[in-house]
Amino acid sequence: HAIRRFTPAVLKWFAKHGRHDLPWQQLHKTDKDIYAVWLSEIMLQQTQVATVLGYFERFMQAFPTVQDLAVADWEAVANLWAGLGYYARARNLHAGAQQVAQFIRTHGKFPQMPDEWQAIKGVGRSTAGAIVAMGVGGRGVICDGNVKRVLTRWAGIDGDITKSATDKALWQLADTLTPARQSGEFAQAMMDLGATLCTRTRPKCEICPIAADCIAHRQGKQAAYPVKAKK
Ligand code: ADE
Repeated sequence: HAIRRFTPAVLKWFAKHGRHDLPWQQLHKTDKDIYAVWLSEIMLQQTQVATVLGYFERFMQAFPTVQDLAVADWEAVANLWAGLGYYARARNLHAGAQQVAQFIRTHGKFPQMPDEWQAIKGVGRSTAGAIVAMGVGGRGVICDGNVKRVLTRWAGIDGDITKSATDKALWQLADTLTPARQSGEFAQAMMDLGATLCTRTRPKCEICPIAADCIAHRQGKQAAYPVKAKK
């Protein structure tokens, strides 16, 4: 049924319409790629891809490895970050680099598991899943704001997404839908789908690969999802 159609449809859409040329997208998962994916995911947390590109290149130039970033002066990091906003992210990035460098000294390699990444400053559950899936090449599950919008619409989940029961159900569904292999492609596909088709306003359902099974689309109630309690 619908559950079994979801992942193949999303992966097929991504192969044709997704972005595959971003500087942090690599086929071979070297340590440099893990570093690049972590750095890019921190930058992408509140900033669009187009804006991140230039900052990402300058950071990689200035700090080619996580060890370079760990020993850098805060002023150098802050200067390169200027304009990206949300300075706490830069602070976490700098402190996080020191944590990752320490982890590598202890374990001889980058963190590989989602819970190891979640122990790094600035890395929440979804970012940890993204780094594992797209950087390490292991299985990682993501469920950020964009993914939650896609899943609440598709499954017709009308619980308040700020409530822990709804959050739990969404993570459970994301886990069910995430494939054992290609979870990196699946993660990027879900983010691209949420950013380009399943947008908050005026979603492009006519070209969406999962519209046929989408409850919100069927009800004509896309704007009703996700349900979020007013502050
Ligand atoms: N937001 C967070 N991570 C992202 C990614 N990898 N691609 C696009 N938007 C994102």
